[in-house]
Amino acid sequence: MLQRQFLRALLRPTHAIHTSNTIRPAIYTSSRHLISTPLYNYSITQQHYFSHTPIRPQSDLHKMASASNENFKLENLFGVKGKVALITGGGSGIGLMATQALATNGAKVYITGRTQEKLDRVASLYNKNISGEIIPIVSDITSKESISKLVKEIESRESHLSILINNAGISSSTDNTEPSDATELKQSLFDDATPMSEWEDTYRTNVMQLYFTTTAFLPLLQKGSEREKGWSSTVVNITSISGIVKVSQHHFAYNASKAAAIHLTKMLAHEVADSGLRIRVNNIAPGVFPSEMTAGESDEKQKSALAKEKYEGKVPAARPGKDEDMASAVLFVSTNQYLNGQTVVVDGGYVLAAGTV
Ligand SMILES: NC(=O)c1ccc[n+]([C@@H]2O[C@H](COP(=O)([O-])OP(=O)(O)OC[C@H]3O[C@@H](n4cnc5c(N)ncnc54)[C@H](OP(=O)(O)O)[C@@H]3O)[C@@H](O)[C@H]2O)c1
Repeated sequence: MLQRQFLRALLRPTHAIHTSNTIRPAIYTSSRHLISTPLYNYSITQQHYFSHTPIRPQSDLHKMASASNENFKLENLFGVKGKVALITGGGSGIGLMATQALATNGAKVYITGRTQEKLDRVASLYNKNISGEIIPIVSDITSKESISKLVKEIESRESHLSILINNAGISSSTDNTEPSDATELKQSLFDDATPMSEWEDTYRTNVMQLYFTTTAFLPLLQKGSEREKGWSSTVVNITSISGIVKVSQHHFAYNASKAAAIHLTKMLAHEVADSGLRIRVNNIAPGVFPSEMTAGESDEKQKSALAKEKYEGKVPAARPGKDEDMASAVLFVSTNQYLNGQTVVVDGGYVLAAGTV
């Protein structure tokens, strides 16, 4: 009871909502407060959490909920028709899977990468018979200058951005972790180890770009949310199960960078929401998928292949991931309006087998 009174004192009426037989105040807070209710504790910052939320009688809500099945159609649950998306590293592997998932279902997808030829090939091959569009833009996302240039380029073509997929990434060299003798292990993991410069490159591509690309696109993403009722623009970072498992998989630098990318996702999601913006930030942590990174090459269709047998004893699914496994995850994370700050692991059970930190 006391808590309710405390809550009421914090909330101030601002405008009235007319329902069938009552006039009820719409409520929101004007500054940060810690609100405590018997059910949950949460902090409310500025006006975004409760702003303009009409209070409806329960009976009205039941009527609305049962009136139609329309909202449950696939195109309403996972629809991306007309959305504007940007996918870094969209010219191969997982980025290409995400590109096809969005463009085939009607999104206009800008893909970036450092290699013009790769991007052009994807655009010419996969633009056929789709309701969306794939547009290549050459860009290296490891410098602030080139990220700013990319923002300007998108701004010159679009009024907003609905989906940003920070997918570009690189792997790091492997280190031998087998020696059981201290001197030998030191030889392997210090003297002969992946050089610090490579750690820096890995972090620059896998961690820093994710932070700077996200923050550079905030205004365009916010515009994407403001123009469309019921849609919050979204950032999807492609991290990895390598940032979750306890084994180094022989590449400490890569795995540490992916763990950092997962934490960065959570911090960005929190800070962006705390600033009152309606932009969701999540990450997909893939297991093993065929790509230039894992297979070493792409074929003439910009697709890569991995031998299924290699994963039989390693992954409960007994195979590497397929294009469709990634595509459905991308559609889910991009469109689910109630998902924020989360890691969606798509790994055929790899983490179950390898164990988490
Ligand atoms: N495949 C897997 O099993 C797996 C598992 C977990 C996580 N991941 C993650 O998935 C993401 C995609 O990797 P992938 O496996 O699909 O490998 P990939 O085929 O090598 O794709 C990476 C893409 O990023 C682009 N890229 C790299 N550095 C860039 C830069 N500085 N600026 C712009 N683009 C850049 C590459 O194109 P250019 O070289 O032409 O620039 C390439 O198209 C990565 O973040 C990776 O860590 C992959």
